[in-house]
Amino acid sequence: MSNTERTFIAIKPDGVQRGLISEIIDRFERKGYKLAAMKILTPSKEIAEKHYAEHADKPMFAGLVEFVTSGPMVAMIWEGRDAVRGGRRLIGSTNPAESPLGSIRGDLCVDTKRNVVHGSDSVESAAREIALWFAPWEIVE
Ligand code: CDP
Ligand code: MG
Repeated sequence: MSNTERTFIAIKPDGVQRGLISEIIDRFERKGYKLAAMKILTPSKEIAEKHYAEHADKPMFAGLVEFVTSGPMVAMIWEGRDAVRGGRRLIGSTNPAESPLGSIRGDLCVDTKRNVVHGSDSVESAAREIALWFAPWEIVE
């Protein structure tokens, strides 16, 4: 069974800085997902810490928060059939070296810390992240 879902996708500061915004949007559009919300912002420390709360106990946490608050990110909601799992497939694995060619991380980066894009890992995470990053009136029906 497949469902129409929404997923939270963000282009991280490295992706924005490297000029990969249109490339990443293009891949989601061409796949057939619908853009339901989009904005550019430098996230506050608070939003970054909440976004990555599941990693709060790990040594990488402080560096991760520092990195994602270091410059503008493009925050988006993409909608469509199986958008959460499908979005993760478009993005690839966390470590770019293990990401298949053809995926965003497989094609566009080499460093796990600078892996250009975030995508929700479950329907529950997607709902939590969408509520964290967007107000209801910023999302189109
Ligand atoms: O982003 P994804 O869900 O694929 O990975 P994660 O395990 O939720 O980790 C969140 C982010 O932390 C990753 O996208 C990496 O940017 C970073 N990370 C890192 O710097 N070093 C690691 N060993 C693992 C993750
Ligand atoms: Mg994750």
